[in-house]
Order: sequence, then C-alpha cells, then structure tokens
Amino acid sequence: MITNGGTAATLHYCAPVPLQPFEIEPAREPMPARAAAWLQAAQVRIDAFFADASHVSGIGFIPSDYDLVWRTLAKFAHGQTGRLRFCEWGSGFGVITGFAALLGMEAHGIEIDACLCSSARELLAANGLRAEIAQGSFIPEDYEPGERLVDLDTRTVFGKRDAYDDLSLALDDFDVLFAYPWPGEDALYKDLFLRRADFSAVLIMHSRVEGMRAWRKVAKRK
Ligand SMILES: C[S@@+](CC[C@H](N)C(=O)[O-])C[C@H]1O[C@@H](n2cnc3c(N)ncnc32)[C@H](O)[C@@H]1O
Repeated sequence: MITNGGTAATLHYCAPVPLQPFEIEPAREPMPARAAAWLQAAQVRIDAFFADASHVSGIGFIPSDYDLVWRTLAKFAHGQTGRLRFCEWGSGFGVITGFAALLGMEAHGIEIDACLCSSARELLAANGLRAEIAQGSFIPEDYEPGERLVDLDTRTVFGKRDAYDDLSLALDDFDVLFAYPWPGEDALYKDLFLRRADFSAVLIMHSRVEGMRAWRKVAKRK
C-alpha cells in the first residue's frame, strides 16, 4: 500500500508542491522463484564483471540492493491499474528492468555503457524477459540543470547522445522511473524528473544510506 506523505488539504492550500514524496513499504514476502532465478543468472555476470582484472572501481556500474528494490517495486506494482511504462535510468546489467518486466510492466532501460547494454540484452533474452535496453544517455540532450545545480561534478555522464529516440519514446511517456544515483547526485535526478517527466509519473530511487524513496509529480495549484 502506498502512503502519501501529505494530505489533500495541505496540497490544496499551501505553496505549490510539484514533487510529492510518498512511502512504499517493501513487500515482506520472499522473492518469487522466477525473480530469484533471474537475479541469480544476472549475479553470475555481475560477479564476473567485478572479478575482471581490468575493472576500475568507483566509477561506472554499481549494483543496488536488488532484494530491497524487488520488494519495493513489487509492493508498488501491486494494486496499480493498467500497464505501467517503466524506465531504469542507468540500467547496468538490466536487473531492475527485468524485475519490471516480471511485474508486468512495459520495461525499458537506458545505459550509457555499450558493453553493459550488450550484457543486459543477452541476459534478458536468455531468461525470456521482454524488455528493451537502449544505449545512450537518459539525460535529454537539451536538458540544462536547474539553477541550483550549477557547478555539477558528477559521475553521471553528461554531454552524450540521449537514447529516447531509439526507444521511440520521450521522457514524459514513462509512468515509472527508477534510478540508483551516486551519493550526492539525487538532486540532479529529481530535477530532471521534475522538469521533464509527465504529471502523475513516479520516481523511485535507491540509496545505500536512505534506502528506497519515491516521489510523484503533481500538478501545481495556484
Ligand atoms: C550506480 S549504477 C546503477 C546500475 C543499476 N541501475 C542498478 O541499480 O544496478 C549507474 C549506472 O548508470 C550508468 N550511467 C551513468 N551516466 C549515465 C547516463 N547519462 N545515461 C545512461 N546511463 C548512465 C552507469 O554506466 C551505470 O551503469
């Protein structure tokens, strides 16, 4: 069950609140066998990736807490009506994009690293999961960070071709965005979501420190 952070009265009479945080209490049930098998298959590739002698730590792909993300997404998906269109920003090996497919969503991932894209596509296909991975940036080429985000020094890659055309979709075509930003980069992802996602879209983010958080973009009220 989704618990809204604010009340209708607060929304109506106070200053505009375009991003409304809400809680998703992660499901308590263990991961079902199909999801566990998917995670296990992906984990083999992830372990090999980190064991490779050429791996440089601290940049590029870092896995989120997949058990926690599954339980959160599963709870969120439960009770939603219609088929949700999902996009994982920076999809790495596509684990969470695969979870979204397993939960019945139209699943997409965008990843800047071509090798990770190939691995994710192979893994998803080998496990019979329908999901699309596009290689490129999830940051639209014409996006400029909000004024409060100047002097950005990020590990999120900037200035590359975005991948939305390859998906034949725009950022505001998605119902659910998921991201696992590097520490200190949450504000960037929230800014992009706030300025480019559709109203009523949901942003779900994982953080090693803060766990799972979710926001819904709501219409401004005068
Ligand atoms: C912290 S990892 C998270 C991976 C995956 N979401 C997960 O939870 O396992 C961030 C990923 O974003 C990718 N990335 C960084 N900047 C990007 C950009 N502008 N567009 C698309 N992917 C990007 C990295 O290559 C990396 O795979």
